[in-house]
Amino acid sequence: MSPMKTTDQVYSVKQRHVIDFAFDENVASVFPDMIRRSVPGYDTIISMLGVLSARYVIENSNVYDIGCSLGASLLSIYSQVQVPSVHYIGVDNSSEMLNRCKDAVEKVIPLDQLSLIERSAEDIKFSNSSLTVMNFTLQFMRPEVRLDLVRTIYKGLLPGGVFVLSEKLAQEESDHETMTTLHHQFKSLNGYSDLEISQKRTALENVMLLDKREQHIDRLKSVGFKQVLPWFQCFNFTSFIAVK
Ligand SMILES: C[S@@+](CC[C@H](N)C(=O)[O-])C[C@H]1O[C@@H](n2cnc3c(N)ncnc32)[C@H](O)[C@@H]1O
Repeated sequence: MSPMKTTDQVYSVKQRHVIDFAFDENVASVFPDMIRRSVPGYDTIISMLGVLSARYVIENSNVYDIGCSLGASLLSIYSQVQVPSVHYIGVDNSSEMLNRCKDAVEKVIPLDQLSLIERSAEDIKFSNSSLTVMNFTLQFMRPEVRLDLVRTIYKGLLPGGVFVLSEKLAQEESDHETMTTLHHQFKSLNGYSDLEISQKRTALENVMLLDKREQHIDRLKSVGFKQVLPWFQCFNFTSFIAVK
């Protein structure tokens, strides 16, 4: 594939009417570049998932990646946990993302240990999981389904199992401007123009609805997680470990 095709230019040309963001073919074709240039700390989170999984994934269990996109988390986990009795389950409701995920992941993870499911997270029955990961996906789900989903994930975990939840956070009014400015600066330094940054922000306005840190922690605790640790934060992007 030529570099032109894999560099994110989705919002580089002025649009008369910016439509809502979707994980369609335009986005799927440039997604690795888009997420690295947009989410501070993304590579750290992905590589640390390998470290976390080496600690928490146990034999004869399932590992779920909800909103698996192109399979970055699954590949990181598998690189540290090559236990034949572990089953890897990637879920995504975008066919464009999941088809590319298949191309990348089926080359690496043995097919008898892998299920890639095109479905919405709300319709998944979780079971026997030692590790369930949800990186930057809950924020794209309707707020009214979030509590039930987190409860279903909790119920599907084994005792001592872990849910890793990474999200962009809504900020307190007083911190909003500082965090937004720093994130904008991060994107500028990664080569995005002001036009790209502002058009993408408009496109995400109705589809990416952020919760505050305390809302996440309260929700995780309310379904039964006994320990909730924010283990990573960079600007307004964070990742929690929730232990059953
Ligand atoms: C920002 S991306 C996630 C990035 C990915 N987890 C990673 O670490 O590279 C969000 C993904 O969630 C998927 N998604 C959004 N809503 C979903 C839902 N209700 N059920 C399943 N997947 C969903 C999108 O198609 C997209 O691939």
